[in-house]
Amino acid sequence: MIVAIDGPAASGKGTLAKRIAAHYGLPHLDTGLIYRGVGRIMLDRGFPLDNVEIAATIAEHLDLADLDPERLRTRETGEAASVVAAHGPVRKALLDLQRRFASQPGGAVLDGRDIGTVIAPEAEAKLFVTATPAERARRRFRELVARGELTDSDADYRTVLADIEKRDARDSARADAPLAVAADAITLDTTRLGIEEAFAAALAIVEARRR
Ligand code: C5P
Repeated sequence: MIVAIDGPAASGKGTLAKRIAAHYGLPHLDTGLIYRGVGRIMLDRGFPLDNVEIAATIAEHLDLADLDPERLRTRETGEAASVVAAHGPVRKALLDLQRRFASQPGGAVLDGRDIGTVIAPEAEAKLFVTATPAERARRRFRELVARGELTDSDADYRTVLADIEKRDARDSARADAPLAVAADAITLDTTRLGIEEAFAAALAIVEARRR
């Protein structure tokens, strides 16, 4: 079974994908990490993020085993990821890697922006996980304060909200594989749900599709 989980930044899709994968004993791929990996290398080597050719070459040589989630979860890397992810040749270079992961025997869980629409349109279960921008900003803000990247202040919260809104706009407006709800996806709004409630709701959706 392939489970495709898409949604905007900080919607809770990553947590749900991890839990669903553990529940069914399936491998999980956080595809955001791949774009973060490309963005991070561009930043580390001082390449301008709008250099499509260099970004695509880096994407072609990316190795999943080299991606360090801890290091890639910073604000700066998320921003860079969303810029390089808008380049068509970068997305093209990363297509096979993701499709191979999705089609492995036994199935897989993938989360991202275009899993149900582009990477695995054949997925048995498709969820679109969302929450209001204010709630997503609150979640990301708490995470960044806990990591010591931001201070617990209104000003820093507003910065995160602005980041989220900018990222939503960029991810939704790009020409190539924009963030979109697949026609056969079920939308799960987690704004008012705790982690356990959201997991139960997501599992019920997957179970209904499995039957
Ligand atoms: O989900 P995460 O915040 O880690 O993703 C970082 C960025 O990578 C997103 O803002 C988006 O631009 C890009 N992305 C994408 N397609 C995916 C996953 C992530 O374009 N499947």
